[in-house]
Amino acid sequence: MGAKLTAPTISRCKRATGADPLVMLTAYDAPSARMADQAGADLILVGDSVAMVVLGHDDTMSVTVDEMAHHTAAVARTRPRAMVVADMPWMSYHVTPADTVTNAARLIRAGAQAVKLEGGQERVAMIEAIVSAQVPVMGHLGLTPQSMLAQGGYRVQGRSSEAALGLVADAKALAHAGCFAIVLEGMPAAVGRMITDAVDVPTIGIGAGGHCDGQVLVFHDVLGLETRMLPRFVRRYASLHADGVEALARFATDVRSGAFPSPEEGYEMNSDEEMALGLYGHQG
Ligand code: KIV
Repeated sequence: MGAKLTAPTISRCKRATGADPLVMLTAYDAPSARMADQAGADLILVGDSVAMVVLGHDDTMSVTVDEMAHHTAAVARTRPRAMVVADMPWMSYHVTPADTVTNAARLIRAGAQAVKLEGGQERVAMIEAIVSAQVPVMGHLGLTPQSMLAQGGYRVQGRSSEAALGLVADAKALAHAGCFAIVLEGMPAAVGRMITDAVDVPTIGIGAGGHCDGQVLVFHDVLGLETRMLPRFVRRYASLHADGVEALARFATDVRSGAFPSPEEGYEMNSDEEMALGLYGHQG
């Protein structure tokens, strides 16, 4: 296991300069963080997707700074080699720059090494305020789930040439404001390539094509723990929901049949003590 990964190191990971593609996975608690780290992820994102895949909400807009700090702390306690990035939830950076910095600080004090926020040029003032407080910021452009009401649902962005150029301009603005990396979500591969070529900081794609400097997927999607929807950019590497239900059903069968627990799965009492209790030779 190598040295702890940091924002300056990650910010230099452009494939055009020979760097390996960055690997980012979401994680929301200690077991998922340990798994992502042991699998060799470079970055662990405590994503606001926690709202949907863990907390049972229908969208990401319901999660709060308190909840994000709670999950970030659980991830950070595992002391992963991977860099820990925490998502700033909706309405935590749509406020004054001072309140934005206060909210970012909550996540840093919970153990994050950087924060991520969604949006383009309209977020520059907030990004500059956070960066000037010495906190690294990751940007997030394209299909930005916190904008699902404004974007009319979860829709691929940048399909027209005008919209694509707008995203390139947004990416340049984020890089100029000091973002050390930018997530590109839900956009044509050609637009992912244009943005990746236009900025000096790494892009990390999710549904943005193979030219990005890295890729990110949601933990529960990769492992098949989340089965209610399957966006086309998800590749499942396991079926843990199905495997888990099958294992739990076997436990239920064993309990009901009396096959669980066996004597070896319990504790015995010293025979003198059993005798004192009148249990010796006790037939039930
Ligand atoms: O919250 C999240 O999981 C994300 C990723 C999809 C990039 O923002």
